[in-house]
Amino acid sequence: MARAWRQNKNHVVRNIFCFGCLFVLPLLVLAAVLYSKSKNVESLPVHSELSGQKSYDSPHRLSHLIILIMSDPTKSATRNAIRETWLSVNHKDVKHLFIMGSKGLAQTVHQNLLEENLSHHDLVILESINESYTSLTAKTLAGFQWLHSNHKFNFVLKCDDDSFVRISPLIGELHQQPQSQLYWGFFKGGSSVFQKGKWKENDWFLCDTYLPYALGGGYILSSDLVEFVAKNAPLLQQYKSEDVSVGVWLSPLKIHRVHDVRFDTEFKSRGCYNDYLITHKQSANEMREKHANLINAGKMCQSELRARYSYDYNWTVLPSKCCKKFDPELP
Ligand SMILES: *[C@@H]1O[C@H](CO)[C@@H](O)[C@H](O)[C@H]1NC(C)=O
Ligand SMILES: *[C@@H]1O[C@H](CO)[C@@H](O)[C@H](O)[C@H]1NC(C)=O
Ligand SMILES: *[C@@H]1O[C@H](CO)[C@@H](O)[C@H](O)[C@H]1NC(C)=O
Repeated sequence: MARAWRQNKNHVVRNIFCFGCLFVLPLLVLAAVLYSKSKNVESLPVHSELSGQKSYDSPHRLSHLIILIMSDPTKSATRNAIRETWLSVNHKDVKHLFIMGSKGLAQTVHQNLLEENLSHHDLVILESINESYTSLTAKTLAGFQWLHSNHKFNFVLKCDDDSFVRISPLIGELHQQPQSQLYWGFFKGGSSVFQKGKWKENDWFLCDTYLPYALGGGYILSSDLVEFVAKNAPLLQQYKSEDVSVGVWLSPLKIHRVHDVRFDTEFKSRGCYNDYLITHKQSANEMREKHANLINAGKMCQSELRARYSYDYNWTVLPSKCCKKFDPELP
């Protein structure tokens, strides 16, 4: 009796499977086809609608590279020097934005910014950010969040308003790099934690030294890493130094950390080498001089010179030993 019931049940189960083969499977296939069609239909108008618009008012257009320049609201002369020098050549699919905070900003300064933006269309004002060196980390984080929600891009270059960037060779080199999971710059490991002074870290306990990070004068992140940081922003501990913080935020990730001596992005410039893709701590006059050299002689440096030695990062050893081999051959 029990056996017959079981057999009967098996029979019923088999019938259900058969029903599945005959009706459910084709329905699933149909649903899949319809779904993929609807996705195509969705994505088509987005591209055709936006093509032909000017880049500054088409944030949904894909940019290959977005350059985020951390800028002080009061420094419009510096921004002009940048616009007139290294930003003066138009590059397809490259977009730049000056990022600034406006919390507590005088009304007149705010008004000037809006006027400046009427002619240049390149200012991003973060209302929640108090413009001061203590909030650079918060500003960078808010900048990444803003970028993630407002733009489509492949890579972002974060730099400062005293960085001189050579966009053309940088774009060329970018094609040689991994196209995702990329953290590209001049790395430092094993550096001691600031215990006093203006950069004193009050909340650091992870380790006796900072974790490896790319120096803040300019580094490139692929959009997937910006997305990771933006989505996790509320959970991320912020440290005094923005570049140290980015290194910590990305530290658990399986990514390509690419150390490149052509990023002269330390707190002081290492000198002048024509190989540099980015050189930091440049005054407006130095930017004009370098730009004129490039226009007139095709070379950034009137003569190459060294102020400090460079190194290759050794990724096979622990951070305390990563960066000891200063090499007079390197720019
Ligand atoms: C901005 O930060 C500075 C330094 O921490 C502080 O003195 C100032 O009161 C802050 N201003 C606003 C509007 O939060
Ligand atoms: C600057 O101008 C651009 C282009 O018109 C606009 O999209 C952006 O919102 C403006 N920024 C500010 C802070 O008003
Ligand atoms: C890195 O360090 C190890 C151990 O000292 C050494 O054998 C290796 O040659 C170094 N690699 C580079 C690229 O300097």
